Amino acid sequence: KYDAVIFDLDGVITDTARYHYLAWMRLANTQGVHFDEEFNEQLKGIDRMGSLERILMAATRQYSLAEKLALAEEKNAQYVSLISNMTPDDLLPGAVQALDSCRAAGMKVGLASVSKNAFTVLDKLGIMDKFDYVVDAAKLARGKPDPEIFLKAACALDALPARCLGVEDAVAGVASIKAAGMTAVGVGERSVLAQADFVIPGLACFDLNNY
Ligand code: G6P
Ligand code: MG
Repeated sequence: KYDAVIFDLDGVITDTARYHYLAWMRLANTQGVHFDEEFNEQLKGIDRMGSLERILMAATRQYSLAEKLALAEEKNAQYVSLISNMTPDDLLPGAVQALDSCRAAGMKVGLASVSKNAFTVLDKLGIMDKFDYVVDAAKLARGKPDPEIFLKAACALDALPARCLGVEDAVAGVASIKAAGMTAVGVGERSVLAQADFVIPGLACFDLNNY
């Protein structure tokens, strides 16, 4: 039924969504912006500058471009330090099995993360070889919810979008998959990921026979 399965990374394969949350929380606090889980939900899948813009929108003053770049750098430094000790033990339950099941079913496997740290995280998790193609976030013109990233992965994997399955934990990510004309498996809660075709609580429940 599908020629390729394209996975998001943060919050799907490993719990780095938690680290992004902690790093943004710290930055928001230094700028006097109230930040909580609900605010964070809107940031999932959104690229670094886009996320920063949303946080600073809630601040009481304007920021120059130089200030924004410095704050983005500060957040990233914090994030990089949080991921520095990651090991294969940080793979979420069922992640490796899910990736392997796609290959075993003869499908190509892609990774579509807008994170510029994705290659580092894959390397630390020791799963680089499980992907046929990993999108380079540095070369994207538009982040999620734009479909560019999933279309790029499909193209590189030589698969028609209609024959691709996308797997995402973020509202913006599911929107990106649907805008690309693909089938979306949401990882999380149905109430949050309303646009997904299927929703599972985690990759431990990923079963290709169901989609
Ligand atoms: C992923 C995460 C976002 C993060 C973005 C950019 O999409 O879900 O929370 O902001 O990547 O990550 P980066 O590592 O490039 O700052
Ligand atoms: Mg994610």
